[in-house]
Amino acid sequence: MMGRQTAAAPGKLLLFGEHAAVYGYPAVGISLDRTLTVEVAPEAEWRFCFGDRAPCEEFDGEYGDFFPHLEAVARDAGRAERCGELRGHVLISSDLPIAAGFGSSAALCGALARLLLPGNAPVDEIWSMAHRLEEFFHGTASGIDTGLSVLGGSRVFRFTRDRELPEARPLSLPEATIVYGALPRERTTRELVAAVGRRLEDNPRGTREILDRLGAIADDVASETVWGASTLGELASRAQELLRDLGVSSDPMDRLISAGLDAGAIGGKLSGAGGGGAYFFVCDGLESGRRVMTALQRNDTGCTATDGSAAPAILRIGP
Ligand code: MEV
Repeated sequence: MMGRQTAAAPGKLLLFGEHAAVYGYPAVGISLDRTLTVEVAPEAEWRFCFGDRAPCEEFDGEYGDFFPHLEAVARDAGRAERCGELRGHVLISSDLPIAAGFGSSAALCGALARLLLPGNAPVDEIWSMAHRLEEFFHGTASGIDTGLSVLGGSRVFRFTRDRELPEARPLSLPEATIVYGALPRERTTRELVAAVGRRLEDNPRGTREILDRLGAIADDVASETVWGASTLGELASRAQELLRDLGVSSDPMDRLISAGLDAGAIGGKLSGAGGGGAYFFVCDGLESGRRVMTALQRNDTGCTATDGSAAPAILRIGP
């Protein structure tokens, strides 16, 4: 029997292109320096635990259904034997808020793919397995969250007809101070992706137009001609309006975005699937970023998550 096995993978901040990416439009994001770690201790049955070693809180029954999916993905990849060796207690620890829009499920899938595949597996193979694993959490996933987690860095993702996963090119971003954090989540990624799908069926023209415009904003950033925090911020606010029209923002998110703009942010938007969850603001320099962060921490919008890893934090980006 094998001993404990450990792997870690980072979370992500999606900057532009969420939801549109599910329909083949480009997207831009960065991986965070916060990670999710899995430690697998062999046992007769699979089970998830989350938190510090003891006492650990077991995940809800719904996540238990993940394991048959994991075994099927491993079998399809010719890794059934390795999966059998790993079967056991999956202890998750994370400095990423879970299910908040920072790609914790993608990081979980990336870490498990690393454990299932041989140590010298090509990175595309790890990404592909992580992507298949993530279907359990997202239903339809674009592969972008898992791509950012497995490949790292700041990247633009573009889909081509013949490949399931997009191309992932490293991207140079303009220098800016980002303030990011998360609100409590009202809906899951799976529900939000499905809601956009229904909207597309009910109103194909209007919804396509919104997705087109979201994709075009991601394209603008991807062209590396957006040189400056002010354009990046303006694009963020424009994307937020479109995401609101798409029905994936929420009242608390809209109030939070207004509070950040009132405090001097150039622009801001939700990040990831929405329904609460992650957000970011673009600020002109560190001082401005600190002012925005302090305003959000004051919590007088009545909607800021100020606790633990979801609290607003500063990230410097640049070429
Ligand atoms: C979630 O972070 C981003 C979505 O576009 C889903 C996906 O791309 O898989 C909503």
